[in-house]
Amino acid sequence: MSTTAYITTPIYYVNDRPHIGHAYTTTICDVWARGSRLMGRDVFFLTGTDEHGSKVEKSAAARGVTPQQLADENAAEFQRVLATFALTNSDFIRTTQPRHEQQVQAMLTRLVDSGSVYLGTFEGWYDEGQEEYHTETRARELEYKSPISGKPLIRATEQNYYFKLSAFAERLAKHFADHPTFVRPNERANEVLGRLRDGLQDVPITRTNFTWGIAMPGAPGHVVYVWIDALLNYITALGLGTATGSDGDRARYWPADYHVVGKEILWFHAVIWPALLMALELPLPKCVYAHSFWIANGQKMSKSLGNFVDLPTIEGFTQQYGLDAWRWYMATQGPIAAADSDFNAKHFHEIYTYDLVNTVGNCPSRIGAMIAKYFEGKLPPDSDEASHGGWPAICEASVREWEQCIASFDLHGAARTGMDLLRKLDAFINDTEPFKLAKDPANTARLGSILNQCAQTVRVAGVLLEPFMPQKMEELARAFGGVAAIGTQWTARAKYGSIAVGHPIDKLALYPRVERAVVV
Ligand code: MSP
Repeated sequence: MSTTAYITTPIYYVNDRPHIGHAYTTTICDVWARGSRLMGRDVFFLTGTDEHGSKVEKSAAARGVTPQQLADENAAEFQRVLATFALTNSDFIRTTQPRHEQQVQAMLTRLVDSGSVYLGTFEGWYDEGQEEYHTETRARELEYKSPISGKPLIRATEQNYYFKLSAFAERLAKHFADHPTFVRPNERANEVLGRLRDGLQDVPITRTNFTWGIAMPGAPGHVVYVWIDALLNYITALGLGTATGSDGDRARYWPADYHVVGKEILWFHAVIWPALLMALELPLPKCVYAHSFWIANGQKMSKSLGNFVDLPTIEGFTQQYGLDAWRWYMATQGPIAAADSDFNAKHFHEIYTYDLVNTVGNCPSRIGAMIAKYFEGKLPPDSDEASHGGWPAICEASVREWEQCIASFDLHGAARTGMDLLRKLDAFINDTEPFKLAKDPANTARLGSILNQCAQTVRVAGVLLEPFMPQKMEELARAFGGVAAIGTQWTARAKYGSIAVGHPIDKLALYPRVERAVVV
């Protein structure tokens, strides 16, 4: 595994306000970034806003502001969200920034010079809402309606610059064959492959019917199609489109480990983007990971239904249950695989109670309380071999499994390793019954050994859960051995037995019970 790591979210449209979809993608990327950093990787985590295009132009006009004003306002809102959610992005790219615009122009010039972009006439089925053209076959499949808005597709003709996507069909097919995990999950890869078999048409990459975009170099009146502009953000943020091909030493992060996207924008990322990179002679990302959708109370979320879980609703949850509980729910119950996930307040409450109150809160709390009661709050020695529960090996196996899960973006699996450790520990406590042993002083060595093993294991579980609930797990680390180790080498942090005998162990109550009040 290379030591550098690069993960990206889609860049979000500024004509929309942040909602659960944006919060979800960004949060799972953050969990991965934190987990990879824990393992000692040098992580670059990028997010940002997609600010050009006719939709932004129209929304701004409707509100009587300039597109730039609208973009500034909403980009600030997205940035505020990142701060509120303690997301650890390394940079925030905005497509109206000069650094991005200049590199996009430079790369388009290169594409024209190399013959991958040419001027021609285009006719096709256009989805106005998505700013996307469909082939005849696809349009027929869609019954000539937008799969997103349901509005009719429009027959449109334009003189435009095209990207020679068709020229890359074979190379793309070969790439998919050679890299079976290029698109994940597998169900999504199969969909892309199915569409690839229909053949590829060249893509118009400039527009002349509006002006809010990056000017196409050498072609007055043409602005760069918003999707081409947007996809390039993944490399302009690293400076790969500058004359020197890097911005400081950020070039080292390319190619990306994961482009995490929602399934509705997979085609752009799985087909158009790799072809563009091939045309630019740059390496392809390792994986495009397309998650599914949150739905709300069994219904698709849509603007027309007005049922988007929006920022004020999210803040209702974080205020009542805490930010880490929100992150936990997002990262463990979300639509990371092929199926959609239903968001509902009752389920949220159940997960909070079952996972967080009853396990993550309760297990360390009972261990801390017993150490306080029987050993004056100091870690007793593990001196009674007869009471060994095999915890060093169990922890070691959990850590190895967790590492694999993080590396492969199996966040549900990674969360499970930490949670399972705590559940096993609860079972160990129930089996060995330290509270009963404590009644007879003759059992002190045995009691101490059991509690020592419990505390050492809790500490390891806390490390594995840290990317999911960073604030609470810092509290846990503080109580179980101190935070001094945070920031030290992964091997030391994840090692069983890092709390010294005699070290104070504090009592703590991480997750209080909550009365259910939030209604979505
Ligand atoms: N601007 C484009 C992306 C360009 S990337 C080069 C765009 N932006 S968006 O604001 O519409 O954000 C789309 C992203 O939001 C999706 O890819 C997905 O990450 C997230 N979601 C939007 N609705 C969602 C759900 N209901 N559920 C989960 N995530 C979804 O598309």
